Amino acid sequence: MSAVCTHQRCVVALQDDGLFHCPCHGSKFDKEGKVVDGPAEQDLPWFEVEITDDDRVIVHLTDIVE
Ligand code: FES
Repeated sequence: MSAVCTHQRCVVALQDDGLFHCPCHGSKFDKEGKVVDGPAEQDLPWFEVEITDDDRVIVHLTDIVE
């Protein structure tokens, strides 16, 4: 899941209440990335992730998971 807020692109962080808070304007997202409080109106996007045979993690930033 992206950690970039969908409002104006600040980086969100997980807080003690179990929600991801944006430090810029106060949006909050649950652990599924769904908006709990605005001003953000769009959920955080999820991306396709691949783990290679040699344990590298590849995030496919263009493959948004619906
Ligand atoms: S950039 Fe996250 S609430 Fe504005």
